[in-house]
Amino acid sequence: MQFFIDTANLKDIGEAQQLGVLDGVTTNPTLMAREGISGEDAVRNHYKAICNLVTDNVSAEVISTDYEEMVREGTLLANIDPKIVVKLPLTADGIKATRYFSTNGIRTNCTLVFTAGQALLAAKAGATYVSPFIGRLEDISTDGLNLIADIRKIFDNYQLPTKILAASVRNAMHIVNCAKLGADVATSPLSAIVGLLKHPLTDAGLAQFLEDHRKAAAKSVEQQ
Ligand code: E4P
Repeated sequence: MQFFIDTANLKDIGEAQQLGVLDGVTTNPTLMAREGISGEDAVRNHYKAICNLVTDNVSAEVISTDYEEMVREGTLLANIDPKIVVKLPLTADGIKATRYFSTNGIRTNCTLVFTAGQALLAAKAGATYVSPFIGRLEDISTDGLNLIADIRKIFDNYQLPTKILAASVRNAMHIVNCAKLGADVATSPLSAIVGLLKHPLTDAGLAQFLEDHRKAAAKSVEQQ
């Protein structure tokens, strides 16, 4: 499974990249706003900075909601860097724009997916990635992981090449469960990726190993 980081924060992206496990980045207008980025020039420069930190797969979301504007804005985003994946909302205009970009060889990520039917539509339009939001479904007491399983089954039934990008992934267990269900990618904040590192027995075991080593070293010095 590929790991994407869900942020526009350069420090967090750099930290995940340094860990050596990062395959890409997803952003959205809220995440860009959180970094204080607005205006065409600032957006372009920020995406350039993100692309310079990672090897590929930087999802850049359009703000436009009608087809013509989505095509215009998405084309500008795609021209920033070949690593850019144009992120489009799952609306009728978004699906039309997805078809436009896939026909023109530009990678897309269909976002705000909450049903298997929406995912199927995105795949039919040639989306590179489809982003089901599992955390937001759980926020309204709905099983987000079931959605991943349903989409996996449908895509496998017809060998659809669209990748399942599990989104709104908020903790380490979400990542593990998405992996168990066969999601192709999980995008999450740095805290969830780092959360995968943690287990108290790892910390206790390491402390014990180092203490035993220290004692043995001290003993061998005494014996000299
Ligand atoms: C995905 O592409 C979105 O940017 C993101 O995963 C949304 O996550 P949230 O529901 O935690 O805001």
